[in-house]
Amino acid sequence: KRDRLQTLYDLLTRAERFYRQQLKSAPDRQKAVHYLKGRGLTGEIAARYGLGFAPPGYDNLSQGLSLDNDGIEQALTAGLLVRKEDSGRTYDKFRDRIQFPIRDSRGRTIGFGGRVLGDGKPKYLNSPETPVFHKGKELYGLWEWRQSRDKTDRLYVVEGYMDVIALAQHGVPNAVATLGTATSEDHCHTLFRQVNEVVFCFDGDNAGRRAAWRALESTLPALDDGKQARFLFLPEGEDPDTLVRAQGPEALLALTDKADTLATYLFSHLSEGLDLNTVDGRARLARLALPFLDKPAGPVYRALLEEELARLTRLERSSLEKLRESLPTRR
Ligand code: GTP
Ligand code: MN
Ligand code: MN
Ligand code: MN
Ligand code: MN
Repeated sequence: KRDRLQTLYDLLTRAERFYRQQLKSAPDRQKAVHYLKGRGLTGEIAARYGLGFAPPGYDNLSQGLSLDNDGIEQALTAGLLVRKEDSGRTYDKFRDRIQFPIRDSRGRTIGFGGRVLGDGKPKYLNSPETPVFHKGKELYGLWEWRQSRDKTDRLYVVEGYMDVIALAQHGVPNAVATLGTATSEDHCHTLFRQVNEVVFCFDGDNAGRRAAWRALESTLPALDDGKQARFLFLPEGEDPDTLVRAQGPEALLALTDKADTLATYLFSHLSEGLDLNTVDGRARLARLALPFLDKPAGPVYRALLEEELARLTRLERSSLEKLRESLPTRR
């Protein structure tokens, strides 16, 4: 089994090298280089993140790596090739795309994201789950951040590959992205093993705001006392990439200073549409918020959330305590 996995890692490393080489030598390379330049990236950053190019065509990878029958089977398992149902023929999964290698915490390439050069669909193609690639566990850019030796005790969590890379290009190397999945509890434990402060900074659109709430829910069980999660909401239509490109890293840092604490975001989200000047509004908030009070891993955090809810609902701590015990869902 170990050998089989090692074969996959080796193959993925060779594929990464192949795509990188294509960015330097493929006949169509100019449009890929042009695309990356158009997005404000230098060659140095492209190299740091191992960016490459999958040329147009259906058998560039299998030809380029001279895969034999075993190699083709392994490339299918690694998600680099796909097999056509009817004819049984195999072909390159990634074609005419910018390739973003995804590295695990040890720097091994475990998969790829591929972006179209223009407005084609799908915009991003990602490696499938494979024996070496598990989306709910990996954080894009984590290994590259650790390589940068940046000592900031804070990580930004953003949505996309380009957000991570654009931030690094603008001197903010401490950003990672979930891979097209919601932030998981596993992700949060990984994040808080690295730093004490995590700032979630998703796109200023509906999908981004939904992602932030999911992230809050996943963060609570990883929130030990002394750890901090904050939520930065970008202006409508912006993502971290567009923000730093238009306004520089200072704009991100200024917004970070004003970012919501977890408690602020939790209670303001749950209070949306409620009038806390009325008994009905406060009763509703208490109902909605009680199930969250037991979720943080840290006891100090749990106590502070309870205190804040008592303040907002004007309930005595002792009443809240009783209500809490009467709830069916205890941790
Ligand atoms: P750019 O247009 O390159 O700046 O991408 P983006 O990261 O801003 O994309 P967007 O905000 O639309 O989506 C956020 C993330 O969702 C992306 O980084 C991808 O990981 C994922 N995503 C976006 N489009 C697709 C898609 O068509 N297919 C899949 N599988 N994932 C996508
Ligand atoms: Mn978006
Ligand atoms: Mn985006
Ligand atoms: Mn974007
Ligand atoms: Mn909301």
